[in-house]
Amino acid sequence: MPEFQTSPGMRDILPPESTRWRRFVATFAETVTAAGYGQIIPPLLEDIGVFHRVGEATDIVTKEMYDFIDKGQRHVALRPEQTASVCRAFVQHRPATPWKVWYSGPNFRYERPQRGRYRQFDQVGIEVLGANDPYLDVEVIALGWNFFKRLGLRQVHLHLNSLGEPENRQRFVTALQAYFTDNIERLSDASKTTLAKNALRVLDSKRPEDGEVIAGAPKISEFYSDAARLHFETVQSGLQALDIPFVVNEKLVRGLDYYRHTTFEFVGGTLDSAQNAIGGGGRYDGLVEDLGGPATGGIGFALGLDRTLLACDDESVFAATQTSVDVFVVDTTGGLEALVITQQLREAGISSDRSFENRSMKSQMKAADKSGAKIAIIIGSDEVEAQSFVLRPLRSEDQQSTIPRNELMTSIMKALS
Ligand code: HAM
Repeated sequence: MPEFQTSPGMRDILPPESTRWRRFVATFAETVTAAGYGQIIPPLLEDIGVFHRVGEATDIVTKEMYDFIDKGQRHVALRPEQTASVCRAFVQHRPATPWKVWYSGPNFRYERPQRGRYRQFDQVGIEVLGANDPYLDVEVIALGWNFFKRLGLRQVHLHLNSLGEPENRQRFVTALQAYFTDNIERLSDASKTTLAKNALRVLDSKRPEDGEVIAGAPKISEFYSDAARLHFETVQSGLQALDIPFVVNEKLVRGLDYYRHTTFEFVGGTLDSAQNAIGGGGRYDGLVEDLGGPATGGIGFALGLDRTLLACDDESVFAATQTSVDVFVVDTTGGLEALVITQQLREAGISSDRSFENRSMKSQMKAADKSGAKIAIIIGSDEVEAQSFVLRPLRSEDQQSTIPRNELMTSIMKALS
């Protein structure tokens, strides 16, 4: 075993998988750019205070952050998610509202690695700042939904909830705290620990022994104000108008503290229940204020790239494809001709590859076949002397032809068209 390997929960993404990743992000970019979103590229590293605001009572912030003191004595952290960075950027740059942005890239959480759960994982996401309209919530959810459909996924389920206004949520948490404390003996040990930190998160427990207590717990819908109820009903009617199926899941609390009103998760039907959220998001109207900005509505989602691709594998959609070139240059005269011709081809916008180390004709033809090229240009000493090359179609029954050197480019273009 080599001395150095990737750290636990971190992976090398190799070709052709990396090509699929790029295509994933490109497809997402197309989907959201067509809806008026511009790209934001925040740094990977922020002052740790930015993330403290997103959830002082969450595992993501208290246990899983990669943080350290930098050489300038600043306490910084690798981002565990990007919503907080987007809000920090909003406060810093004061763009016109509504500010609609999308992002992609890696995030870091010190979690227990397993299939679908990594310490470095990629997300794509959108955020909209500066609008409170419930139909915006619907637009945001619909963009996520459309993207999954565009990948070809069929088994995606939308779970929807509302956490109401902060005051509704606060009263709900107090009621939950009291209920779980009264029933503490019936909770699992893990949930007892969770309760000490955040009663809401107990609802998230998937342990069978907690099931009965959770089923009897107070429900958030009993605490909604009229405004919160109306917001939630409007979101639901908007989703119905777009024919987007959803289930209301009152246990959906999400792993971050900043949510109010709408929360949602996209659940992959083929994945194990512990890691089946392929995306999630919601409204976080207080976060910009918490980061020192004006009162500003905000909503967005992030989709997990790694997990969504696992779902794609399970459903046999959006497969990785081998990259290929159009032309392979086989040169048995030492390689200088191949050097010049591949350069000319690439300058003309034609993808091309070649072999090195002056391999035998047989070995170069094998490489040509593997490269996926449609045409091989074959150069031997006879051809160099005659100033002409052989063009051999690799993927059709067409006959090979001999082309004068000065007609090479036009012949190749014609053969590829
Ligand atoms: P989140 O639910 O923590 O939300 O993460 C969103 C998605 O990222 C998850 O549904 C999952 O697919 C993926 N994910 C999270 N952790 C891991 C991991 N350790 N390994 C693999 N995939 C993972 C957020 O991050 C919020 N910022 C979403 C948001 C945007 N809310 C409002 N705007």
